[in-house]
Amino acid sequence: MTEFIPTRHPNPAGIQRVAVMTSGGDAPGMNAAIRAVVRTSAFEGLEVMGVRRGFSGLHRGEMKLIGPRDVANTIQRGGTILLTARSATWRTPEGRASGAQHLRDNGVGGLIVIGGDGSFHGAHLLEQEHGIPVIGVPGTIDNDLYGTDHTIGYFTAVETALDAVDKLRDTGASHERIFVIEVMGRHAGHIALDVAVAGGAEEVFIPEDDKPIGDVIQIVKDSVKKGKTGSIVIVAEGVPGGAQGVGDAIQAGTGLETRVSILGHIQRGGTPVSSDRILASRLGEAAVYALMDGVSGVMVGRRGSNIIHTPLIETWEKRKDVNRDLYRCAKKLSV
Ligand code: F6P
Repeated sequence: MTEFIPTRHPNPAGIQRVAVMTSGGDAPGMNAAIRAVVRTSAFEGLEVMGVRRGFSGLHRGEMKLIGPRDVANTIQRGGTILLTARSATWRTPEGRASGAQHLRDNGVGGLIVIGGDGSFHGAHLLEQEHGIPVIGVPGTIDNDLYGTDHTIGYFTAVETALDAVDKLRDTGASHERIFVIEVMGRHAGHIALDVAVAGGAEEVFIPEDDKPIGDVIQIVKDSVKKGKTGSIVIVAEGVPGGAQGVGDAIQAGTGLETRVSILGHIQRGGTPVSSDRILASRLGEAAVYALMDGVSGVMVGRRGSNIIHTPLIETWEKRKDVNRDLYRCAKKLSV
């Protein structure tokens, strides 16, 4: 067998130093992505500036050199070692000008932004207004970015929510109650749908479909007639009225004892599962190579087993639909 020896990547852009930041809501696996950026860069002989606190740190010039040993023991850690923030200052032209100046002063040839659509808006403006090369890496539990099958953090968030659903099912079944459980996802129902199917839920509410509440009340009543002890209903946070609205309607419409549980930020924390670590590792590497190739203004994503580039604007302008086949399947399996 021939030994595999990794080769150096060409560097037509002549990049010598990149910067990396995490921005917006944290997501499990962001550290694995930072690590991949730092170590790929080190392998290629590039330096990395770690920007702290996302765009709000960048406009204040909060950055320092980080090397391969600085990211040791981080692949398994949730959160982000670079810290993150949602920045109001970055929405002003002055804030962005100041950030661009700090990058130039530090000899940075390109910025890698790990985050969601809000962060990509910020990166896009930096590129458009100041000509700084930028690459986006999809890091959000919501999985709501067009141009990648999955976003970093999504798999872990689903596992965390599912673990909670399993536990709530134990108590719900013991008391013969209806449990209405709200999961995150902002305006998207990806987490809700996966959790509903994997958690054997009776019903799922997602923002992508406006299901009449009356249907669900009937389904819950029928499930009691069929002898089911307790029911699980999953609601994505983006559904109008949220889980509380659905829970109140079910309680009023069925007269059955109903409890509402909002899982909240617990879904953002914890040890990233292997799928998130692997996705983050590949996309962190791809982001460095994109900059070296002279590519800018795109998000690196994974479709099937291929790495693809999608213009940043498309990542938020094109809608990524939920898996409709899975949605149909969910309805059948609660018979
Ligand atoms: O985008 C990630 C996310 O966790 C969403 O699911 C949720 O709507 C939002 O962030 C919560 O934001 P914050 O942490 O600012 O309350």
